[in-house]
Amino acid sequence: MTGADRHASDAFDPAGTVARARQAAADAGSLEALGELRGVLLGKRGELVRAQRALGGVAPEERRRLGEQINSARAEVEEVLAARQGQLRAEERARRLAEERLDLTEVVDVPRRGRVHVVERTRRQLEDVFVGMGFAVVEGPEVEDDWHNFEALNMPIAHPARGMWDTLYLELGPPESVVLRTHTSPVQIRLMQRERPPVYAVMPGRCYRRDTPDARHIPIFHQIEGLVVDKGISFSDLAGTIETFTGAYFGTDIHSRLRPSFFPFTEPSAEYEITCTICRGAGCRTCSQTGWIELGGCGMVDPAVFAAVGVDPEEWTGFAFGFGIDRCAQMRHQLPDMRVLLENDVRVLEQL
Ligand code: DAH
Repeated sequence: MTGADRHASDAFDPAGTVARARQAAADAGSLEALGELRGVLLGKRGELVRAQRALGGVAPEERRRLGEQINSARAEVEEVLAARQGQLRAEERARRLAEERLDLTEVVDVPRRGRVHVVERTRRQLEDVFVGMGFAVVEGPEVEDDWHNFEALNMPIAHPARGMWDTLYLELGPPESVVLRTHTSPVQIRLMQRERPPVYAVMPGRCYRRDTPDARHIPIFHQIEGLVVDKGISFSDLAGTIETFTGAYFGTDIHSRLRPSFFPFTEPSAEYEITCTICRGAGCRTCSQTGWIELGGCGMVDPAVFAAVGVDPEEWTGFAFGFGIDRCAQMRHQLPDMRVLLENDVRVLEQL
């Protein structure tokens, strides 16, 4: 054993090392400082590692004793560091809690109240108007089969009129057999399958189309469908119902008009338009200077639809209509862009 080695091992004083570590840990004022101290005490240049390295030059009988001393000193230092870390963490947490303390009795503003979304409110108002006119409210599924959404509505497979709706299909069953309903008209079918005439019902609900959103279209929107089936129902009943509804919902200075159109499930068919609520009929950008805004379609139920659900067209006649709830909300609140209804910006919703 050389003199230098003897010196190194002699110099290792476990009690002193631990005592110094204890003092330094107590002096460390933050978790960060403690982390640094750990590096110093247990790192390459620390007394423990140095003593460990010197072990190689120590006589075997002494090496074991010294090795045990080093190990237990290291364990003690680790314990000291862990204890101090726990203390510092608790102190830090207490400080943070004090800093972030929120005195709730200081909050003078009462939390703001939420409200029903304008589209939902519009649906309820539309239902109210129709219930007042003697209609029942009926609902149907948003996931629909091809037969209810198209076929029973007088559009056999591959019928060109299916192109009027940009349809979203679900990967369920055979290809293109299940759709997200493109309109509320399939609920007419479900209702007539279930109940015999006379029928007076409105059917509100969500619909889906593969559409790019713009100022007047959103791909997830709402419609309200109407269906009347009774004896001796004529086109003038349809026109009268639509005009009564228009005045009741939009105000008596707003009128309706029906323009010839085509739908596979009605004959004759019409487009339902109302006086533009923004210019009151004078002509503006929103109505393309026409003074009228299209809300939806309507017509006399086609005998082929009655045939699909087993209603005798010789005995019963009826009319149907379907229009956009979101479009109604847009017109009633004079919204230049329908997309705000989907964006849910509270600053906008609060005004509606
Ligand atoms: N389902 C049609 C659509 O989404 C609207 C419609 C037109 C509904 C005529 C009807 C109707 O009930 O008779 O475009």
